[in-house]
Amino acid sequence: MFATTRATAFAAKRAFSTSAANLSKVAVLGAAGGIGQPLSLLLKENPHVTHLALYDIVNTPGVAADLSHINTNSKVTGHTGIGKGLEDALKDAHVVVIPAGVPRKPGMTRDDLFNTNASIVQGLAEAAAKHCPKAHILIISNPVNSTVPIFAEVMKKAGVFDPRRLYGVTTLDVVRASRFVAEVKNKDPKDVKVTVVGGHSGVTIVPLLSQTGFDFTKEELDALTHRIQFGGDEVVKAKDGTGSATLSMAFAGARFANSVLEATVGGKKDVIEPTFVKSDVFAKEGVDYFSTLVELGPEGAEKIHGLGQISEYEQKLIDAALPELKKNIAKGAAF
Ligand code: NAD
Ligand code: LMR
Repeated sequence: MFATTRATAFAAKRAFSTSAANLSKVAVLGAAGGIGQPLSLLLKENPHVTHLALYDIVNTPGVAADLSHINTNSKVTGHTGIGKGLEDALKDAHVVVIPAGVPRKPGMTRDDLFNTNASIVQGLAEAAAKHCPKAHILIISNPVNSTVPIFAEVMKKAGVFDPRRLYGVTTLDVVRASRFVAEVKNKDPKDVKVTVVGGHSGVTIVPLLSQTGFDFTKEELDALTHRIQFGGDEVVKAKDGTGSATLSMAFAGARFANSVLEATVGGKKDVIEPTFVKSDVFAKEGVDYFSTLVELGPEGAEKIHGLGQISEYEQKLIDAALPELKKNIAKGAAF
Protein backbone atom coordinates (compact mmCIF):
# COMPACT_ATOMS: atom_id res chain seq x y z
CA MET A 1 0.00 0.00 0.00
CA PHE A 2 2.76 2.39 1.10
CA ALA A 3 4.92 1.43 -1.90
CA THR A 4 2.04 2.07 -4.29
CA THR A 5 1.33 5.44 -2.73
CA ARG A 6 4.99 6.38 -2.92
CA ALA A 7 5.23 5.23 -6.53
CA THR A 8 2.12 7.23 -7.41
CA ALA A 9 3.45 10.31 -5.63
CA PHE A 10 6.77 9.95 -7.45
CA ALA A 11 5.05 9.59 -10.83
CA ALA A 12 2.88 12.63 -10.08
CA LYS A 13 5.94 14.64 -9.01
CA ARG A 14 7.79 13.65 -12.15
CA ALA A 15 4.81 14.54 -14.34
CA PHE A 16 4.58 17.86 -12.55
CA SER A 17 8.26 18.72 -12.96
CA THR A 18 8.18 17.74 -16.65
CA SER A 19 5.25 19.99 -17.37
CA ALA A 20 6.55 22.74 -15.07
CA ALA A 21 9.72 22.91 -17.18
CA ASN A 22 7.61 23.40 -20.29
CA LEU A 23 5.28 26.14 -19.09
CA SER A 24 4.93 29.39 -21.00
CA LYS A 25 3.19 32.72 -21.32
CA VAL A 26 0.13 32.99 -23.55
CA ALA A 27 -1.43 36.37 -24.38
CA VAL A 28 -5.04 36.69 -25.55
CA LEU A 29 -5.82 39.94 -27.39
CA GLY A 30 -9.56 40.64 -27.36
CA ALA A 31 -9.82 38.63 -24.15
CA ALA A 32 -13.00 40.26 -22.85
CA GLY A 33 -15.05 39.46 -25.97
CA GLY A 34 -17.46 36.72 -26.91
CA ILE A 35 -14.64 34.38 -27.96
CA GLY A 36 -11.96 35.84 -25.71
CA GLN A 37 -13.66 34.96 -22.41
CA PRO A 38 -14.44 31.26 -22.97
CA LEU A 39 -11.14 30.82 -24.81
CA SER A 40 -9.26 32.28 -21.85
CA LEU A 41 -11.21 29.97 -19.54
CA LEU A 42 -10.11 26.95 -21.57
CA LEU A 43 -6.51 28.20 -21.65
CA LYS A 44 -6.59 28.62 -17.86
CA GLU A 45 -7.00 24.85 -17.73
CA ASN A 46 -4.07 24.18 -20.07
CA PRO A 47 -1.12 22.71 -18.14
CA HIS A 48 1.42 24.18 -20.59
CA VAL A 49 0.43 27.74 -19.71
CA THR A 50 2.34 29.46 -16.89
CA HIS A 51 1.05 32.94 -17.44
CA LEU A 52 -2.18 33.96 -19.09
CA ALA A 53 -2.02 37.64 -20.09
CA LEU A 54 -5.44 39.02 -21.00
CA TYR A 55 -5.59 42.16 -23.11
CA ASP A 56 -8.62 44.07 -24.36
CA ILE A 57 -9.57 47.70 -24.81
CA VAL A 58 -12.37 47.19 -22.23
CA ASN A 59 -13.27 45.03 -19.23
CA THR A 60 -10.06 43.03 -18.79
CA PRO A 61 -9.67 43.71 -15.03
CA GLY A 62 -12.94 41.92 -14.30
CA VAL A 63 -12.28 38.97 -16.59
CA ALA A 64 -8.74 38.60 -15.23
CA ALA A 65 -9.86 38.80 -11.58
CA ASP A 66 -12.55 36.20 -12.23
CA LEU A 67 -10.26 33.72 -14.02
CA SER A 68 -7.45 34.27 -11.50
CA HIS A 69 -9.48 32.47 -8.81
CA ILE A 70 -9.41 29.17 -10.71
CA ASN A 71 -7.00 26.85 -8.93
CA THR A 72 -4.78 25.86 -11.82
CA ASN A 73 -1.09 26.64 -11.80
CA SER A 74 -1.00 29.60 -14.21
CA LYS A 75 -0.83 33.25 -13.20
CA VAL A 76 -3.47 35.54 -14.76
CA THR A 77 -2.89 39.23 -15.48
CA GLY A 78 -5.26 41.75 -17.06
CA HIS A 79 -4.05 44.55 -19.35
CA THR A 80 -5.66 47.44 -21.12
CA GLY A 81 -4.51 50.57 -22.95
CA ILE A 82 -2.75 50.48 -26.30
CA GLY A 83 0.65 51.62 -24.96
CA LYS A 84 2.08 50.09 -21.80
CA GLY A 85 -0.91 47.79 -21.31
CA LEU A 86 -0.39 46.06 -24.64
CA GLU A 87 3.38 45.99 -24.17
CA ASP A 88 3.04 44.27 -20.78
CA ALA A 89 0.62 41.72 -22.22
CA LEU A 90 2.93 40.88 -25.13
CA LYS A 91 6.36 41.01 -23.49
CA ASP A 92 7.87 37.50 -23.28
CA ALA A 93 4.73 35.91 -24.73
CA HIS A 94 5.38 32.54 -26.31
CA VAL A 95 1.94 32.34 -27.92
CA VAL A 96 -0.41 35.20 -28.81
CA VAL A 97 -4.01 34.38 -29.68
CA ILE A 98 -5.99 37.16 -31.39
CA PRO A 99 -9.79 37.19 -31.37
CA ALA A 100 -9.93 41.03 -31.30
CA GLY A 101 -12.36 42.70 -33.68
CA VAL A 102 -16.00 42.98 -34.61
CA PRO A 103 -18.13 39.94 -35.49
CA ARG A 104 -20.71 39.62 -38.30
CA LYS A 105 -24.41 40.43 -38.20
CA PRO A 106 -26.96 38.69 -40.44
CA GLY A 107 -26.58 39.70 -44.10
CA MET A 108 -22.86 40.47 -43.79
CA THR A 109 -19.95 38.54 -45.30
CA ARG A 110 -16.69 38.18 -43.42
CA ASP A 111 -15.14 40.53 -45.95
CA ASP A 112 -17.58 43.23 -44.77
CA LEU A 113 -15.60 43.22 -41.49
CA PHE A 114 -12.41 44.18 -43.31
CA ASN A 115 -12.64 47.95 -42.83
CA THR A 116 -12.87 47.73 -39.04
CA ASN A 117 -10.80 44.66 -38.30
CA ALA A 118 -7.91 45.37 -40.68
CA SER A 119 -6.82 48.39 -38.64
CA ILE A 120 -7.27 46.55 -35.35
CA VAL A 121 -5.09 43.67 -36.55
CA GLN A 122 -2.53 46.05 -38.04
CA GLY A 123 -2.18 47.87 -34.71
CA LEU A 124 -1.78 44.62 -32.80
CA ALA A 125 0.77 43.37 -35.34
CA GLU A 126 2.86 46.53 -34.91
CA ALA A 127 2.92 45.96 -31.17
CA ALA A 128 3.75 42.24 -31.55
CA ALA A 129 6.59 43.03 -33.98
CA LYS A 130 8.06 45.27 -31.32
CA HIS A 131 7.39 43.40 -28.08
CA CYS A 132 7.28 39.68 -28.97
CA PRO A 133 8.75 39.21 -32.47
CA LYS A 134 9.41 35.52 -31.86
CA ALA A 135 5.98 34.58 -30.54
CA HIS A 136 3.65 32.15 -32.27
CA ILE A 137 0.73 34.25 -33.48
CA LEU A 138 -2.72 32.69 -33.87
CA ILE A 139 -5.16 34.88 -35.80
CA ILE A 140 -8.88 34.37 -35.23
CA SER A 141 -10.09 37.88 -36.23
CA ASN A 142 -12.02 37.91 -39.50
CA PRO A 143 -11.67 38.00 -42.42
CA VAL A 144 -8.86 35.49 -41.71
CA ASN A 145 -8.02 35.26 -45.46
CA SER A 146 -6.99 38.93 -45.27
CA THR A 147 -5.99 39.50 -41.63
CA VAL A 148 -3.19 36.91 -41.83
CA PRO A 149 -1.54 38.68 -44.82
CA ILE A 150 -1.99 42.03 -43.04
CA PHE A 151 -0.17 40.68 -39.99
CA ALA A 152 2.56 39.20 -42.18
CA GLU A 153 3.16 42.48 -44.03
CA VAL A 154 3.58 44.39 -40.76
CA MET A 155 6.04 41.79 -39.48
CA LYS A 156 7.94 41.90 -42.80
CA LYS A 157 8.16 45.68 -42.64
CA ALA A 158 9.64 45.37 -39.15
CA GLY A 159 12.07 42.71 -40.43
CA VAL A 160 10.78 40.02 -38.05
CA PHE A 161 8.45 37.89 -40.19
CA ASP A 162 8.83 34.16 -39.60
CA PRO A 163 6.22 32.31 -41.69
CA ARG A 164 6.48 29.30 -39.39
CA ARG A 165 5.06 31.33 -36.52
CA LEU A 166 1.99 32.95 -38.07
CA TYR A 167 -1.20 30.90 -38.29
CA GLY A 168 -4.74 31.69 -39.40
CA VAL A 169 -7.00 29.62 -37.17
CA THR A 170 -9.27 27.47 -39.37
CA THR A 171 -9.83 24.76 -36.76
CA LEU A 172 -13.52 25.62 -36.40
CA ASP A 173 -14.13 24.46 -39.98
CA VAL A 174 -12.57 21.11 -39.14
CA VAL A 175 -14.47 20.81 -35.85
CA ARG A 176 -17.76 21.58 -37.64
CA ALA A 177 -17.01 19.25 -40.52
CA SER A 178 -16.33 16.38 -38.12
CA ARG A 179 -19.58 17.04 -36.24
CA PHE A 180 -21.72 17.42 -39.39
CA VAL A 181 -20.35 14.27 -41.07
CA ALA A 182 -20.74 12.30 -37.82
CA GLU A 183 -24.41 13.35 -37.68
CA VAL A 184 -25.03 12.13 -41.25
CA LYS A 185 -23.12 8.87 -40.77
CA ASN A 186 -24.37 8.27 -37.24
CA LYS A 187 -20.87 8.06 -35.77
CA ASP A 188 -19.06 9.43 -32.75
CA PRO A 189 -17.34 12.65 -34.00
CA LYS A 190 -14.12 11.60 -32.30
CA ASP A 191 -13.84 8.87 -34.94
CA VAL A 192 -14.57 11.24 -37.83
CA LYS A 193 -11.61 13.23 -39.18
CA VAL A 194 -12.27 15.64 -42.03
CA THR A 195 -9.48 17.57 -43.69
CA VAL A 196 -10.65 21.05 -44.67
CA VAL A 197 -8.34 23.11 -46.89
CA GLY A 198 -8.29 26.56 -48.53
CA GLY A 199 -9.28 29.58 -46.50
CA HIS A 200 -11.90 30.61 -43.97
CA SER A 201 -14.93 32.05 -45.77
CA GLY A 202 -17.69 30.60 -47.94
CA VAL A 203 -16.38 28.97 -51.12
CA THR A 204 -12.76 29.22 -49.96
CA ILE A 205 -13.55 26.55 -47.33
CA VAL A 206 -12.98 23.21 -49.09
CA PRO A 207 -13.76 19.98 -47.23
CA LEU A 208 -12.01 16.90 -48.61
CA LEU A 209 -14.81 14.46 -47.90
CA SER A 210 -13.34 11.84 -50.25
CA GLN A 211 -10.50 11.41 -47.73
CA THR A 212 -12.76 10.57 -44.78
CA GLY A 213 -13.17 6.89 -45.62
CA PHE A 214 -16.98 7.26 -45.90
CA ASP A 215 -19.08 6.98 -49.06
CA PHE A 216 -21.43 9.84 -49.79
CA THR A 217 -24.31 10.19 -52.26
CA LYS A 218 -24.23 13.27 -54.49
CA GLU A 219 -27.01 14.80 -52.35
CA GLU A 220 -25.02 14.17 -49.16
CA LEU A 221 -21.89 15.66 -50.71
CA ASP A 222 -23.73 18.79 -51.82
CA ALA A 223 -25.51 19.26 -48.51
CA LEU A 224 -22.44 18.59 -46.35
CA THR A 225 -20.14 20.74 -48.45
CA HIS A 226 -22.59 23.63 -48.29
CA ARG A 227 -23.11 23.21 -44.54
CA ILE A 228 -19.35 23.15 -43.84
CA GLN A 229 -18.73 26.17 -46.10
CA PHE A 230 -21.56 28.20 -44.57
CA GLY A 231 -21.65 26.83 -40.99
CA GLY A 232 -20.70 30.25 -39.68
CA ASP A 233 -23.82 31.75 -41.28
CA GLU A 234 -26.02 29.26 -39.39
CA VAL A 235 -24.75 30.66 -36.10
CA VAL A 236 -24.88 34.30 -37.23
CA LYS A 237 -28.51 33.81 -38.26
CA ALA A 238 -29.47 32.01 -35.04
CA LYS A 239 -27.80 34.69 -32.90
CA ASP A 240 -29.93 37.20 -34.77
CA GLY A 241 -27.74 40.29 -34.64
CA THR A 242 -25.92 39.57 -31.36
CA GLY A 243 -22.78 38.10 -32.92
CA SER A 244 -21.27 34.99 -34.46
CA ALA A 245 -19.81 31.73 -33.19
CA THR A 246 -18.07 32.26 -29.84
CA LEU A 247 -18.30 29.04 -27.81
CA SER A 248 -17.48 26.60 -30.61
CA MET A 249 -14.73 29.01 -31.70
CA ALA A 250 -13.30 29.10 -28.19
CA PHE A 251 -13.26 25.29 -28.21
CA ALA A 252 -11.54 25.24 -31.62
CA GLY A 253 -9.09 28.03 -30.70
CA ALA A 254 -8.13 26.28 -27.47
CA ARG A 255 -7.55 23.04 -29.37
CA PHE A 256 -5.28 24.75 -31.87
CA ALA A 257 -3.40 26.72 -29.19
CA ASN A 258 -2.87 23.48 -27.29
CA SER A 259 -1.45 21.82 -30.40
CA VAL A 260 0.99 24.71 -30.88
CA LEU A 261 2.02 24.49 -27.23
CA GLU A 262 2.40 20.72 -27.33
CA ALA A 263 4.61 20.93 -30.41
CA THR A 264 6.68 23.95 -29.38
CA VAL A 265 7.18 23.46 -25.64
CA GLY A 266 5.63 20.09 -24.84
CA GLY A 267 8.09 18.09 -26.95
CA LYS A 268 5.25 16.23 -28.66
CA LYS A 269 5.96 14.80 -32.10
CA ASP A 270 3.61 14.31 -35.05
CA VAL A 271 1.29 17.17 -34.14
CA ILE A 272 -0.70 17.84 -37.29
CA GLU A 273 -3.35 20.53 -37.63
CA PRO A 274 -4.90 22.33 -40.56
CA THR A 275 -4.06 26.02 -40.53
CA PHE A 276 -3.93 28.97 -42.92
CA VAL A 277 -0.23 29.75 -43.37
CA LYS A 278 2.24 31.09 -45.92
CA SER A 279 2.32 28.14 -48.27
CA ASP A 280 3.78 26.99 -51.57
CA VAL A 281 0.89 24.65 -52.36
CA PHE A 282 -0.76 27.17 -54.75
CA ALA A 283 1.97 29.83 -54.85
CA LYS A 284 2.36 29.26 -58.63
CA GLU A 285 -1.29 30.25 -59.01
CA GLY A 286 -0.56 33.46 -57.08
CA VAL A 287 -2.15 32.21 -53.83
CA ASP A 288 0.51 32.78 -51.17
CA TYR A 289 -1.44 31.65 -48.11
CA PHE A 290 -3.43 28.45 -47.97
CA SER A 291 -4.69 26.07 -45.33
CA THR A 292 -3.70 22.40 -45.49
CA LEU A 293 -2.59 19.94 -42.86
CA VAL A 294 0.58 21.29 -41.27
CA GLU A 295 3.08 19.45 -39.09
CA LEU A 296 3.90 21.52 -36.04
CA GLY A 297 7.31 21.26 -34.37
CA PRO A 298 9.52 23.23 -31.96
CA GLU A 299 9.81 26.11 -34.48
CA GLY A 300 6.12 26.14 -35.43
CA ALA A 301 4.70 25.24 -38.85
CA GLU A 302 7.57 23.03 -39.96
CA LYS A 303 6.10 20.91 -42.75
CA ILE A 304 3.22 21.92 -44.96
CA HIS A 305 1.39 18.99 -46.51
CA GLY A 306 -0.12 19.03 -49.99
CA LEU A 307 -3.74 18.22 -50.75
CA GLY A 308 -3.19 14.48 -51.20
CA GLN A 309 -5.50 12.64 -53.58
CA ILE A 310 -8.69 14.59 -54.22
CA SER A 311 -11.85 13.85 -56.22
CA GLU A 312 -13.06 15.66 -59.33
CA TYR A 313 -15.79 17.20 -57.18
CA GLU A 314 -13.17 18.62 -54.81
CA GLN A 315 -11.01 19.84 -57.69
CA LYS A 316 -13.96 21.97 -58.81
CA LEU A 317 -14.29 23.38 -55.29
CA ILE A 318 -10.57 24.23 -55.30
CA ASP A 319 -10.95 25.91 -58.70
CA ALA A 320 -13.73 28.07 -57.28
CA ALA A 321 -11.80 28.84 -54.09
CA LEU A 322 -8.50 30.01 -55.63
CA PRO A 323 -9.60 33.26 -57.34
CA GLU A 324 -11.55 34.36 -54.25
CA LEU A 325 -8.61 33.56 -51.98
CA LYS A 326 -6.20 35.37 -54.26
CA LYS A 327 -8.41 38.47 -54.09
CA ASN A 328 -8.77 38.32 -50.27
CA ILE A 329 -5.01 37.84 -49.77
CA ALA A 330 -4.10 40.67 -52.15
CA LYS A 331 -6.53 42.99 -50.37
CA GLY A 332 -4.91 42.19 -47.00
CA ALA A 333 -1.36 42.50 -48.29
CA ALA A 334 -2.11 45.84 -49.93
CA PHE A 335 -3.73 47.33 -46.83
P1 NAD B 1 -16.74 40.40 -29.70
O1 NAD B 1 -17.20 41.71 -30.20
O2 NAD B 1 -17.61 39.66 -28.75
O3 NAD B 1 -15.30 40.52 -29.03
C1 NAD B 1 -14.27 41.19 -29.64
C2 NAD B 1 -13.41 41.82 -28.58
O4 NAD B 1 -12.33 42.48 -29.22
C3 NAD B 1 -14.15 42.87 -27.75
O5 NAD B 1 -14.03 42.59 -26.36
C4 NAD B 1 -13.43 44.17 -28.10
O6 NAD B 1 -13.36 45.10 -27.03
C5 NAD B 1 -12.07 43.65 -28.48
N1 NAD B 1 -11.28 44.60 -29.26
C6 NAD B 1 -11.66 45.48 -30.21
N2 NAD B 1 -10.61 46.19 -30.64
C7 NAD B 1 -9.53 45.74 -29.97
C8 NAD B 1 -8.16 46.06 -29.97
N3 NAD B 1 -7.66 47.01 -30.76
N4 NAD B 1 -7.35 45.39 -29.13
C9 NAD B 1 -7.83 44.42 -28.32
N5 NAD B 1 -9.11 44.07 -28.27
C10 NAD B 1 -9.96 44.73 -29.07
O7 NAD B 1 -16.45 39.47 -30.99
P2 NAD B 1 -16.21 37.89 -31.04
O8 NAD B 1 -17.50 37.20 -31.22
O9 NAD B 1 -15.33 37.51 -29.90
O10 NAD B 1 -15.42 37.76 -32.43
C11 NAD B 1 -14.12 38.30 -32.57
C12 NAD B 1 -13.60 38.10 -33.98
O11 NAD B 1 -13.42 36.70 -34.25
C13 NAD B 1 -14.54 38.59 -35.08
O12 NAD B 1 -13.78 39.23 -36.08
C14 NAD B 1 -15.14 37.31 -35.63
O13 NAD B 1 -15.57 37.45 -36.96
C15 NAD B 1 -13.98 36.38 -35.52
N6 NAD B 1 -14.29 34.95 -35.56
C16 NAD B 1 -13.42 34.12 -36.23
C17 NAD B 1 -13.63 32.76 -36.28
C18 NAD B 1 -12.68 31.86 -36.99
O14 NAD B 1 -13.03 30.70 -37.25
N7 NAD B 1 -11.48 32.28 -37.30
C19 NAD B 1 -14.77 32.22 -35.65
C20 NAD B 1 -15.63 33.07 -34.98
C21 NAD B 1 -15.38 34.44 -34.95
C1 LMR C 1 -17.34 31.30 -38.15
O1 LMR C 1 -16.98 30.55 -39.07
O2 LMR C 1 -18.23 30.98 -37.36
C2 LMR C 1 -16.67 32.62 -37.98
O3 LMR C 1 -15.83 32.91 -39.04
C3 LMR C 1 -17.62 33.74 -37.68
C4 LMR C 1 -18.48 34.11 -38.85
O4 LMR C 1 -18.53 35.30 -39.16
O5 LMR C 1 -19.14 33.24 -39.40
